Amino acid sequence: MTDIQSIIAQMTLEEKAALCSGATAWSTTPIGRLGVPELYVTDGPHGVRRAAEAGTLISQSLPATCFPTASCLASSWNVDLLNQLGQALGEECIALKVDVLLGPGTNMKRTPVGGRNFEYFSEDPYLAGEMAASFINGVQSQGVGTSLKHYAVNNQEFERFRISAEVDERTLREIYLPAFETAVKKAQPWTVMCAYNKLNGIYCSEHHELLVDILKDEWAFEGFVVSDWGAVHDRVKALQGGLDLEMPGPKDRRVKAVVDAVHAGELDEAVLNEAVRRILRIVFKAAETPKGGTFDVDAHHTLARQIAAEGMVLLKNNGLLPLKNPQHIAVIGRAAENPHFQGGGSSHINPTKVAVPFQELQQLAENAELTYAKGYPTDNSFQQPLIDEAVTLAQAADVALLFVALPGFKESEGYDRADLDLTPQQVALIKAVAAIQPNTIVILNNGAPVAMSEWIDDTAAVLEAWMMGQAGGGAIADVLFGKVNPSGKLVETFPARLIDTPAYLNFPGEAGEVRYGEGLFIGYRYYDAKELPVLFPFGYGQSYTTFAYGAPRVSTSTFKDVEGLTVSVDVTNTGSLAGKEVVQVYVHDHQARLVRPPKELKGFAKIELQPGETKTVSIPLDFRAFAFYDPAYQQWITEDGEFDILIGASSADIRGTVTVTLQSTLQLPCILNRESTIKEWLAYSRGKPAVESQVKQLMSQMAGVFGGGEDGHDAIGMDTTTFLMDMPLLSILQFQESAFPRPVDELVDDLLEQAYR
Ligand code: BGC
Repeated sequence: MTDIQSIIAQMTLEEKAALCSGATAWSTTPIGRLGVPELYVTDGPHGVRRAAEAGTLISQSLPATCFPTASCLASSWNVDLLNQLGQALGEECIALKVDVLLGPGTNMKRTPVGGRNFEYFSEDPYLAGEMAASFINGVQSQGVGTSLKHYAVNNQEFERFRISAEVDERTLREIYLPAFETAVKKAQPWTVMCAYNKLNGIYCSEHHELLVDILKDEWAFEGFVVSDWGAVHDRVKALQGGLDLEMPGPKDRRVKAVVDAVHAGELDEAVLNEAVRRILRIVFKAAETPKGGTFDVDAHHTLARQIAAEGMVLLKNNGLLPLKNPQHIAVIGRAAENPHFQGGGSSHINPTKVAVPFQELQQLAENAELTYAKGYPTDNSFQQPLIDEAVTLAQAADVALLFVALPGFKESEGYDRADLDLTPQQVALIKAVAAIQPNTIVILNNGAPVAMSEWIDDTAAVLEAWMMGQAGGGAIADVLFGKVNPSGKLVETFPARLIDTPAYLNFPGEAGEVRYGEGLFIGYRYYDAKELPVLFPFGYGQSYTTFAYGAPRVSTSTFKDVEGLTVSVDVTNTGSLAGKEVVQVYVHDHQARLVRPPKELKGFAKIELQPGETKTVSIPLDFRAFAFYDPAYQQWITEDGEFDILIGASSADIRGTVTVTLQSTLQLPCILNRESTIKEWLAYSRGKPAVESQVKQLMSQMAGVFGGGEDGHDAIGMDTTTFLMDMPLLSILQFQESAFPRPVDELVDDLLEQAYR
């Protein structure tokens, strides 16, 4: 084993500073005399984008498998498949001489119009965390590292280099951090990439609380923090904030700034040493895996096809699917010939090969005649002749398969979408074809929800095929012809209208800030709370078979928070085809001191069932499944009380509920202070018995001040008790200051002393 401390001891200050800045666009600085090799990193996340010309930031990359993007991956709800994907990516990294893959991205899909949503897993932090952890464990099992990104609160492209996401602490802890937390705790990514944006006014690249207090200290992250490319503004501040490696390089002036700061006594060399230690640890770890060789292109293409098929979501089916030997199929839409299978930006992969949907359909369609019409142009122009041609073709066929891909000018890294719409031509095309062909099936390629209300009722079926990766064309054919029974479920709500979405009034921000005013209520948490109708709910997806759920059972109906419990349910395939079902577990708190979403996903399992087969699904629920983050205590809290455990086939299709009683084992510290209300004095103080009688006495004295009235109301027509309960004790006392022999703040201080005793 390399003795890192002894290497650090031999390094000059200049060498240390240079190690903390990239040498090239993709590599760290080697130190030949000490045997420190370079570390080579590359995008990520769903394929290896290894620049053909080393050192160039944007250039053609070497061929690699383009797997489906995160929206599709997560919609599989299959953690084992994500692990397999990770292994395949690891193998490709080795072959392409890459030490660290820059991914996965696990930010929340705060709004469906976020430009990079295709690269992110979900609107739900539990699900996103599980997916990220599995992905990372898969890659790292091959001796290759990952970079969990973009930490944190990177949920939009608008002004991404400078905007400040203004998020309250509880929302941060419950929504925007847990996916990172789970991934770090369950998978220890070798690196974490900080986000470009600011969080509450501080650049993430300098955010000590995020990078050091939470990531490194609280979650025990062992790797190093790398900047997003160009996210560092002040190299010294960034080091002090916990940012270990700045990318890309070279940046001689940054290196000099670090050296100067140490000489000037502005930067403690110990801080630099710690960054160096973290980087060296990973550099040497990576060097343990020999690089080079080849990877199995065909096997990875097959895996990409399998994953794509499993992530596709059947949104609507009137029974037409799977296709039953149609004789004449009209294939319409340019995406059938020019598949749209990945997004624009840093994740763009040069695929090893591409499955063309039209050709793949032809292979499975046996004796059917397939015809093709382009249907819509590449740009946003409106071309009626293309629609007319498609209609003529559709009219002559038994079935019309309409391939509709959201164009890159609408959805990419670098900009957010302005709306949820397809292009006007695409909408007109669907409507025109569906009007004359009742057997119209729409196949969508997009990374995030699109609006469908205008046309979905006219169609026979809709398949959400996502940005499906290079093998997606084959996967579509598999699903349409029933070679694969669809089992994907939505990992984000498809809203009916953009105006209904939770962040609508607070997006994309202005004057340098974007306020996360919806707080905890993103995705289904919001639609549930507002009882708003949606196009398709979180967790939804159809199958060619049907599943029946038995009554859920729990290992114990009264339990201690630290022990948790296990919920079990029998699921039976009641149809005639083998299929997979995603069983979802949500938790609903009956009553809590702080506001809570109506229900939250806390567990899931994907199972495969033969026709008639029954399996028992058992899902453990731990402390965190029931806890909320209380900013007053700065910790996760459980409270005694009842919870419903809801077993669902989607967030809107709950098949069974069981109510359990939690006993909290927490011994919370006293947090009373001069601002505490009467209610808080009575509820939280461990010294409650000591203060209770005095508080009651004060209350009755104060009731006297307000004057008793009829029906429990006072002289000015209000319920004094209710009114007083929410007033700070000190404020109440100040109203009758003269009735007390000494200053009322001293009186409260005495009570506080008793409470803390
Ligand atoms: C992106 C990162 C990416 C990096 C390197 C940045 O612009 O935000 O996700 O890993 O570039 O290409």
